[in-house]
Amino acid sequence: MRVVATRRYPGPAFDELDDLEILPLAQLGEPREDVEGLVVANEAVPLELLPALRIVANYGVGYDRVDVAACAARGIVVTNTPGVLDEATADLAFALILATRRRVVEGDRLVRSGAWTGSWSEGRLADEVSGSTLGILGLGRIGSAVARRARGFDLRVLYSQRRPIDTDLTEYRELDALFEESDIVTIHAPLTPETHGLVDARCLALLRDGACLVNTARGEIVDEGALVAELVSGRIRAGLDVFAHEPEVPRELLDLPNVVLTPHIGSATRQTREAMTRVVVDNLLAVERGEPPLTAVA
Ligand code: 8YV
Repeated sequence: MRVVATRRYPGPAFDELDDLEILPLAQLGEPREDVEGLVVANEAVPLELLPALRIVANYGVGYDRVDVAACAARGIVVTNTPGVLDEATADLAFALILATRRRVVEGDRLVRSGAWTGSWSEGRLADEVSGSTLGILGLGRIGSAVARRARGFDLRVLYSQRRPIDTDLTEYRELDALFEESDIVTIHAPLTPETHGLVDARCLALLRDGACLVNTARGEIVDEGALVAELVSGRIRAGLDVFAHEPEVPRELLDLPNVVLTPHIGSATRQTREAMTRVVVDNLLAVERGEPPLTAVA
């Protein structure tokens, strides 16, 4: 089965594809009747140029840029990589929670600039992580992995999502109550028409002064303009791994001390990225053999 991949994906599993072509989608100018499998990293697929396509294997759990309905209408299966990136993404969310709340990056800048003078830091006191309230927006696999970590940090954990579930990990709250009660809110929802812009100016205004917003999910879930305004005012803090127009980051954020910025690295560990490639390849090989794929999206 001829597979086109938009880049070389990491790890040994990728070498198991024996009829593989690396081709960024921007270079796919002409229709290609030979291509039956496509590997993308959450990219829009030009279906009209791929008449024989059987599977779109998305490298990532989020597939919001893949038109699943249009694929289904053509009988094309879409798969993603759930499960294997939960721990890495939860670790990064926690890194941002700790860095943002404990002012780690500000401290790093101070040391590097040579402006650290006393033998200990007398000013710039941060707020405690332990004992504070963490609100998790979206208690799926990644949100649950964050909730498990939060127990070890003695956080009180709340969650909000469309439908409450039966769990002893955390307590359910409506969205507004989650923002009102939490010292830290971390986002782990998928980007869908329902979650697009869900965290808007009104919602952000519910956060108490000094609260932290952490986003390792999708930038478009938050009204970025409203978030920038809150951050510029200095009222809240944020740890952001995702942005509405990646790789563009609002310029206003670049010099703010109350924001920690990372370049969409939630799944970016060698082990996790290689495991994601394994899932992508297993899906392609299953479809090639005429078997059901392992992780078709709903
Ligand atoms: C990927 C992600 O880096 O899985 C996701 O949804 O955002 C990341 O793991 C990205 O999707 C590229 O595939």
